[in-house]
Amino acid sequence: MKGQTVTPFDVGTITSYEKLINEFGCTPITNDLFERFERMTGTKMPRQYRDYVISHREFDVVLDDFENKKPFYLYTGRGPSSSSMHLGHLLPFQFCSFLQSAFKVPLVIQITDDEKFLFKKGLTMDEIKIMTVENIRDIIACDFDRDLTFIFTNTSFVSDLYPMVLKLGNLIPTSKVQSTFGFAADTSVGKLGFPLMQCAPSFAESFTGLPMFSGKPKMRCVIPCAIDQDPYFRLCREFAGKVKHPKPAVIHTKFLPGLTGVNTKMSSSNTNECIFLCDTAKQIRKKINSAFSGGQELLEDHRRLGGNTDIDVPHTLLTYFCSDTNWIEHLRVSFREGNITCGEMKNTVADYIISIVTKFQKSRSAVTQDEYDHYLMRK
Ligand code: TYM
Repeated sequence: MKGQTVTPFDVGTITSYEKLINEFGCTPITNDLFERFERMTGTKMPRQYRDYVISHREFDVVLDDFENKKPFYLYTGRGPSSSSMHLGHLLPFQFCSFLQSAFKVPLVIQITDDEKFLFKKGLTMDEIKIMTVENIRDIIACDFDRDLTFIFTNTSFVSDLYPMVLKLGNLIPTSKVQSTFGFAADTSVGKLGFPLMQCAPSFAESFTGLPMFSGKPKMRCVIPCAIDQDPYFRLCREFAGKVKHPKPAVIHTKFLPGLTGVNTKMSSSNTNECIFLCDTAKQIRKKINSAFSGGQELLEDHRRLGGNTDIDVPHTLLTYFCSDTNWIEHLRVSFREGNITCGEMKNTVADYIISIVTKFQKSRSAVTQDEYDHYLMRK
């Protein structure tokens, strides 16, 4: 696609989610589906998630399964590439926590420590081990059903995943992996083989050793993720029939933007554009104060001409986390009319984001070793 790169390894400027959905062949999400979800689960889909979810693959079939009391499970993951996760990572895990509590289903969380070793130049396995522990603590703080959630690292769970990795490995041609992920002839064998590791958890057979999967080796998998991860699951869906499993369903979300512009993706490789979950209130305020504003440069111009929240990063950040439609709209109109200045918008949003991060940090500091071991089922 011209001018728009979105792959699991590289996300450039996002000019149009609509185009991306078209190109990937996903189905746009509809209000009808949200309403059906609400009716069937008795759970309101918060305003911010209605904006955040953009498309899906067979989410309608998942709702059919739920209606027919057919079991399914959720699957998501994280590649530990920084010792703290950022605000953009909080979203998918909070969303999974929300879905798990609405559906009351098992959730498996894959930590791709192998991926980061293979794809992030210069990172040693020892460094990744430390990041892994820190990231798992971040994830646990997102509040899951402790008896229905399993977190695993690829390097420790590989023997359980391996039978499915082998089955898929026998079926999927090299050229397919190359074209799906843009790998070239000189891409290392390790990178080439990695997608099998991210695909294997899409099939319940990989978890038959877990009590929550017992007797249900053919459960459907449902994968909430930002749209950059879709290529893995497109591949899984194509080969699901051949490994005799239902196709995994996918729920795609947008990216939380970085601080430099609403068309970027927040990423830990750019620390100044990114709000980490370990940042102090002072750091967060400073970062949001330096974020791209949709207001006018001169105060008198701003009062006269007003600002544009569509390109204002602080207001956009708020829309990803806040469920209060009236307040968001009030801020939008006041900014547009020049009644709220750029500085006031930044401070208001900083207060809100600080409250979210502070709440997260409180839960994280309450994560005990016992709980950590429980999620990894080490006991
Ligand atoms: P990773 O660690 O890059 O990202 C973890 C999850 O966060 C999403 N994400 C974002 N969402 C919103 N805004 C952002 N700015 C943002 N940045 C990242 C990612 O899409 C992902 O959902 N290979 C994967 C780990 C993985 C995985 C999975 C993810 C393994 N199995 C199954 C989803 C589903 C990775 O490196 O994610």
